[in-house]
Amino acid sequence: MRIGILTGGGDCPGLNAVLRAAVRAVSVDHGGDVIGFRDGWRGVMEDTWEPLTIDRCRGILPRGGTILGTSRDQPYTRADGVQRVREAISRHRLDAIVAIGGDGTMGVANDLHGDGLPVVGVPKTIDNDIASTEMTFGFQTAVQICTFAIDRLHTTAESHDRVLVVEVMGRHVGHIAVWAGIAGGAAVTLVPEEPFDLDDVASRITTRHDHGSWATIVVVAEGAVPQPGTLSITEPIVDAYGHQRLGGIANVVAAELELRTRIETRTTILGHVQRGGTPVAFDRVLGTRFGVAAVDAVADGAFGSMVALQNGSIVRVPVADAVGHLKRVEPDLLRTSALFAPQRPATGG
Ligand code: F6P
Repeated sequence: MRIGILTGGGDCPGLNAVLRAAVRAVSVDHGGDVIGFRDGWRGVMEDTWEPLTIDRCRGILPRGGTILGTSRDQPYTRADGVQRVREAISRHRLDAIVAIGGDGTMGVANDLHGDGLPVVGVPKTIDNDIASTEMTFGFQTAVQICTFAIDRLHTTAESHDRVLVVEVMGRHVGHIAVWAGIAGGAAVTLVPEEPFDLDDVASRITTRHDHGSWATIVVVAEGAVPQPGTLSITEPIVDAYGHQRLGGIANVVAAELELRTRIETRTTILGHVQRGGTPVAFDRVLGTRFGVAAVDAVADGAFGSMVALQNGSIVRVPVADAVGHLKRVEPDLLRTSALFAPQRPATGG
């Protein structure tokens, strides 16, 4: 067996676990070679790659990022892009390309499959928003990093009787915000799924402080938006790939909450610290399972499929099922997180 493998889109803890496992599965179960394309689809189109061997993968399991590098380049934005992918597959006599990436990379995998090319997808994103898989690796690491940060913010918020607004990643959905908010004991969590009304948030915080709470943690996902007409926010910058550069909503939320509550309010924006560094055990295991399953999919000729986690098992789904719509936060989790700053004071307990 000969496979080409790449990592595309934003990096994510656990990518190296997938690479290492795929190399191991090819070598041990099938015999053959893996070549690692550099910087996502760019490496396929420009033929920049390196042999991925067991030796090359030694020691990478606990390392964040991706040893292959990554980019948002993709074949469908170049006139000859698809042809270049086709040539790379034939030049290297590949059985398939295993594409590890988020929504964008899965979209490309799906389109290439439609164009008759052998591709298998592996879903990746700290945002955990890819449809058809219960979880993506990287997500649990991000949640853990945010939770540790929130734990630290509690003690300083309590000492100063402040509101602390913590911004976490979550471009279209609030999985990180809700999980970290629940795990870190946040009072209020704002997510893209439910546009917020700051008057309502402020009155919940005031109620808390009037009834004995002396500090409030507000978690806000970077993609959270106000209810229409309630607040104006500046449009984010868009980069060369049409990718909005988010970040900073916490500053607006904090300033407006301070005006409304008259409680001193500060901001912490966690940013890329959530994406860097060593993956937690869960993400190493999930990445490893995905790597093995992707090689199995290639061996079975299951092109156009994506490996996924469903009911605790690794399955294959059509990559098309994962493209074009996002997995949102389950309503029960939203309800649970909303219990900690009710509009009326909690009784009993
Ligand atoms: O898509 C994952 C993600 O972590 C988003 O939550 C975030 O908005 C984005 O990546 C940031 O990506 P970049 O650093 O490439 O701008």
